[in-house]
Amino acid sequence: MTNPSAPILLFDSGVGGLSILPTVRAALPDAPLIYAADFAGLPYGTKSEAEIAARVCGLLGRMSERLQPRLICIACNTASTIALAMVRDVLEVPIVGTVPAIKPAAKTSKTGVFGILGTEATIRQSYVDDLEREHAVGKTMLRHAAPELVTLAEAKLRGQTVSVDDVAEACTGLTLQPEGRDLDTVVLACTHFPLLRDELAQAFGENVALIDGAEGIARRVAALVEGQEFARSGPDRMLVTGDDPLPDELRATMSSYGFDQIDRF
Ligand code: DGL
Repeated sequence: MTNPSAPILLFDSGVGGLSILPTVRAALPDAPLIYAADFAGLPYGTKSEAEIAARVCGLLGRMSERLQPRLICIACNTASTIALAMVRDVLEVPIVGTVPAIKPAAKTSKTGVFGILGTEATIRQSYVDDLEREHAVGKTMLRHAAPELVTLAEAKLRGQTVSVDDVAEACTGLTLQPEGRDLDTVVLACTHFPLLRDELAQAFGENVALIDGAEGIARRVAALVEGQEFARSGPDRMLVTGDDPLPDELRATMSSYGFDQIDRF
């Protein structure tokens, strides 16, 4: 039987997984949660596949041993599209990954032209090619890497003002592609990006729908822990890698997400 105080571990390179956290909490209000941010490895999107795979497998292995989670949610598209299968191979705990929402985007796009915004590492994955082949037959999927949005989302959650102009600039590689004028849907294929939803909505305008995978991920997490008992043995906490000082603004943001305690891992 699962220990009722065993946490669900949400893992990301930084604050991106916070875009998934509220839907997981809404689905499972009593589930103890640990949010782990690999700040020492941030950003993942500019790293090689080998670096990301080694880092994610190593860290999740150590976290899993130390924290004994009942489930791990890799709340990061980059880590999931590269390392999900490997992590599943080596760990016994159930793992939920974050898959770019290409299927719903292809289904709902009326013009048949939709975009995918992710990190450099994510958009070049064969995982994404496979999703396109499987779900976007007859549609046009435009890809663009927007690593600047990761930096902007991290800055926003550290209390800095993010301008719509900067966000729009980071997306021009999508909108200025020849078929970009027909774009009516954009997949936010990086968990950092929904944290900039308001700025992105203004940047793309009201005729473009923004889609992310948070609801589907929360449903999957809830399905895998169905029937299990939950009992918090203390408040939810956040773990971070690295020794960089944590600014007060970030602590305040984490507190607003229900994490008053931040520990180094
Ligand atoms: N949040 C991550 C994702 O979903 C990546 C950000 C990064 O570390 O580059 O892809």
